[in-house]
Amino acid sequence: MSEHKEMKRISTSTIMEMKNSGEKITMLTAYDYSMASILDQAGIEIILVGDSAANVFAGHSTTLPITLDQMIYHASSVVRAVKWAMVIVDLPFGSYQGSSSKALESAIRIMKESGAHGVKLEGGAEIQEAVEKIVSAGIPVVGHLGLTPQSINQFGSFGVRAKSESEAHVLKNNLHVLQEAGCFAVVLEKIPAKLAGELSSHTRIPTIGIGAGMGCDGQVLVVNDMLGLTENFKPKFLRQYLNLHGEIKGAVQQYIKDVKDNSFPGTDEQY
Ligand code: KIV
Repeated sequence: MSEHKEMKRISTSTIMEMKNSGEKITMLTAYDYSMASILDQAGIEIILVGDSAANVFAGHSTTLPITLDQMIYHASSVVRAVKWAMVIVDLPFGSYQGSSSKALESAIRIMKESGAHGVKLEGGAEIQEAVEKIVSAGIPVVGHLGLTPQSINQFGSFGVRAKSESEAHVLKNNLHVLQEAGCFAVVLEKIPAKLAGELSSHTRIPTIGIGAGMGCDGQVLVVNDMLGLTENFKPKFLRQYLNLHGEIKGAVQQYIKDVKDNSFPGTDEQY
């Protein structure tokens, strides 16, 4: 596990160099100052202010309800904490679909109002123009293919994508489109490991997988899930490094007990 050794901020060129040298890229989500500060100090390369905030932060069952203003609020809290990592922010549902001008406006608002370093959009050929426009404004863009949660109502389930040859073919074309449109990296979510590995070795840009196996150039997880803050969410692809839900609940129960039985505050915890 590496803390950032040199005091140089991670950029798109660092990420590209990592792909070329075979060093795996690490990405985790964060939505607030305290968590972002810990991730940055630990040495994470990319912090994603994911629209998964709608799920883990606000308790919605999909990512659709979160607004651009809310994403900017989360993103600016994260940016204030971060010294070394690159901060990428999800364009939320409704802020880019169907209009490349609207996409550019939304991306510019994120960059101006939060101070983030780039944006992420879900989709393939249908967002090509939007990606080109955002990139031409000098904004780094990450693509997102496979399971794209903003389209959950079209998919009907959170199952593995691109299992059929025809869907895998479409995904491969979409990856090519995103690469040519100027994305500097792409997230591959919940697709077969074999497909993700093949795609990763045939693209110039880094792939960052979630539920897409070991062949990707990097990995991303939702931080609340990998720390075990989220209760009852244990998909096969998730490695849970801590059980913070249990730890925090235990600490709160202890606090309640201490207050009730008058053992907190003690004589050395008062003025
Ligand atoms: O919103 C998010 O957290 C994401 C990751 C799952 C990649 O898009």
